[in-house]
Amino acid sequence: MTALLCRLPTLHLTHASFSLSRRLLSRPARPPTVSLLGEEYPTDDVTNVTSSIAEKLGRDLHRQPAHPLGIIRALIETHFAGFTAISDVSPVVTPALNFDDLGFPADHPGRALSDSYYINRGLMLRTHTSAHEVETFRAGERKWLLSADVYRRDEIDASHYPVFHQMEGARVFSNDKAGLQELTNDTARLAAELERANIEIEDIPHISSTNPVQPEHDPQTSALVAHHLKLSLNSLILKLFGGHGASTEPVRVRWIEAYFPFTSPSYEVEVFYRGKWLEILGCGVVKQSTLDRANVPNSISWAFGLGLERLAMFLFSIPDIRLFWSQDERFLSQFSPGRVTTFKPYSKYPPNSRDISFWLSASGMHDNDFCDVVRDTVGDIAESVEMIDHFIHPKTGRSSKCFRINYRSMDKSLTDEEANTLHQQVASRVREKFGVEIRD
Ligand code: PHE
Repeated sequence: MTALLCRLPTLHLTHASFSLSRRLLSRPARPPTVSLLGEEYPTDDVTNVTSSIAEKLGRDLHRQPAHPLGIIRALIETHFAGFTAISDVSPVVTPALNFDDLGFPADHPGRALSDSYYINRGLMLRTHTSAHEVETFRAGERKWLLSADVYRRDEIDASHYPVFHQMEGARVFSNDKAGLQELTNDTARLAAELERANIEIEDIPHISSTNPVQPEHDPQTSALVAHHLKLSLNSLILKLFGGHGASTEPVRVRWIEAYFPFTSPSYEVEVFYRGKWLEILGCGVVKQSTLDRANVPNSISWAFGLGLERLAMFLFSIPDIRLFWSQDERFLSQFSPGRVTTFKPYSKYPPNSRDISFWLSASGMHDNDFCDVVRDTVGDIAESVEMIDHFIHPKTGRSSKCFRINYRSMDKSLTDEEANTLHQQVASRVREKFGVEIRD
């Protein structure tokens, strides 16, 4: 397989260097506001939301009952009986909600302009559903699921898209005798159910020196909460992955130690599906500071966050993440509420690839900036963007890059002329936006 454009070891631009590089070069004037969900927001020197991203707000694929994402969401909500299901929270959040309140350090790479979409210095598009943990706990919810669209600047290929959907789930227990009794009873119930099921689980210790209990917690209680979390998710995975296909093969799950700034201990879960280990979620025991901030006293909680596209691509056999956004009847008509069915690909039109090489200007350009310009110019017709050459001139020290863009429409066959026109549009946008010099 060719190496697709992935997180290259490029410098993460800080706000300061970003604004400096923008001021040094004369760029097209920035519009004074950006319109999102019918509201106008003032822009500033960090604004990097593009119009193709702005168009995605409000599409709410996870709320369509006959869309694969809506079907998976509903299945999970049915599984977690008694949980409050929330799915209508705006993606416009403050960096405090998305990062600071969850304990992200000031220099965390996720905060970089190259990785996240900022509306202005005070507002951004959430990068994960954990951004709503504090407010949901504060509202008094003790068992809840929150599904939403999340936004991350990323590479372009079959499994990466700058908008995707997550579901956050959490359960709070009172940290007293009654709460611990509830926890113990429910743990026993789930363990008995899983005992009888056709599932093979590779577990790891609930707590270890590298995946520690929080200083505020009693180690036994924390381990009990972690155990309950693991059983709750094993049981969900059994529901989703068990019983598909005629095989009597067990569902295979493995637990892996992880790190998140807002949980400890933390884990990731992988499921073995069609010959591959697939990471589907992150989870852990909620940091006590989150519950404190939310004014939830004498309690302990677990939380998880899972990727809905990830699950849906595997369960419905959907080969390309762009398909979720398709409005083509040949896609949409294949699904119905409550049913997990195998997607039948309709004819795949041939790809048309074109290369573009340019000398970078002094202010540089992050590869994710390039991907955003491509998407903003040609939309989902860009199937993948791959960097095929990076060259530094030995004498002048100038840097040149060559990208291969695969153009492929999912709905029709592209002619050579159409591909040329799209490619020329990309070239002139890149030249205009980043002052690069296109090489022939
Ligand atoms: N928000 C994390 C992510 O997007 C997932 C997560 C959610 C981890 C809740 C722990 C608890 O990767």
